Amino acid sequence: MKLQWLEPQSDDEPITGADLTAVGVLAERLELSPDAFQPALDELKTERGYVEQDIVELSPETPDLEALCAKFVDEHLHTDDEVRYVLEGEGIFDLRSEDDRWMRVTVEPGDLLVVPANLHHRFSLTSRKHIRCVRLFKDSSGWVPHYRDASEANG
Ligand SMILES: [Fe+2]
Repeated sequence: MKLQWLEPQSDDEPITGADLTAVGVLAERLELSPDAFQPALDELKTERGYVEQDIVELSPETPDLEALCAKFVDEHLHTDDEVRYVLEGEGIFDLRSEDDRWMRVTVEPGDLLVVPANLHHRFSLTSRKHIRCVRLFKDSSGWVPHYRDASEANG
């Protein structure tokens, strides 16, 4: 997992776990073997009430890849947590910081990221255009993007 301010200012400290927890983001590394990550995901399900688990994959072979990606590239939030454990590939989450700046989180295999409900964010693929990850949900109904009004965003 790589962390960087999207528009760095000269006096910026590097992004730390504290910057992520300040907005309720959970970021962890789990070993990639199913024997290792599944018990950790099961624990997370019990702790946080996630009941559904599936696997999603985006790749250059995905039909309508551009249309799918376009749904998540603009700033939005969900009323459910967005839980992703990366199995293959990589992806870019931009998350709003406590002071409403962009924190760029580039996720790689073995990274677990929980974007909490109601935190504004956006997602895009890297130039490799491939990610495969486990998703956890409380229920599928909360997982609809609600776009941020451009007039209230910092860009
Ligand atoms: Fe999202």
